[in-house]
Amino acid sequence: MDSAVTFGRLAEEIAREAGEMLLAKRPARPEVLVTKSSPTDVVTALDRASEELIRDRIKAVRPDDAILGEEGGTTGDGRVRWIVDPIDGTVNFLYGVPEWAVSIAVEVDGEVIAGVVNVVPRAEVFTAVRGRGAWLAGERLSCNTGVPLERALIATGFGYGSGRRAVQAEVLRHVLPRVRDIRRGGSAASDLCAVAAGRLDGYYERGPQEWDYAAGGLIAAEAGARVGGLEGRPANPGLTLCAAPGLFEELHDLLLGLAPERDA
Ligand code: IPD
Repeated sequence: MDSAVTFGRLAEEIAREAGEMLLAKRPARPEVLVTKSSPTDVVTALDRASEELIRDRIKAVRPDDAILGEEGGTTGDGRVRWIVDPIDGTVNFLYGVPEWAVSIAVEVDGEVIAGVVNVVPRAEVFTAVRGRGAWLAGERLSCNTGVPLERALIATGFGYGSGRRAVQAEVLRHVLPRVRDIRRGGSAASDLCAVAAGRLDGYYERGPQEWDYAAGGLIAAEAGARVGGLEGRPANPGLTLCAAPGLFEELHDLLLGLAPERDA
């Protein structure tokens, strides 16, 4: 069997197990364990427990692989690298907003070849293997096409630092009058899957990290969307955007003129 498919299956199995653990253990009101970049950038005990479970399962079968996890950083240095967000949408998780996900991508020699995003509260497991499409519950996904910017429903997200947010608000002030509407779901991984499924037309954000967009980015791309950064760069923490070809360029050009990669 194609090794990308095997990796995809393993990633899916692990993301499902982590999701089950999180659902079973999530208290009515989870507590913040520590904060990271700002007082609103939180980690709960279950972020850590989820990452630990995922790391243990990967290591049990792939002991030599590298793992990048949101909470634990990078371990190992193999040519296979697992990119893990144990809970994407931690603030939603904290508040009981049903929009958070376990995200796992597998990268080989610098290319993401398989990704899974388990949007746990909705029991939706999005998967993709490079070259084999994006899938949800046995249905192949395809993003919306032919949507002009003024009719596009666009998701975005905000960072945790106030200086960055001030610029994000300024950029948004110029984007909002140009599009159908804006959504802020609170999980970048889930936003990218929503583009794949045609529930959104596009997504852009300054500041998402690899663990936020690696799996969802492959899922959106395999559903026909373009995923990248500004001026031909790949998706990156400076800016990541995603939409069907055509809309991607319109959104890109609008954003480029607004210098969204600066912070206050
Ligand atoms: C966050 C979410 C959010 C996005 C932030 C991310 P986290 O991830 O994906 O939607 O706007 O940029 O940091 O902190 O919940 O794992």
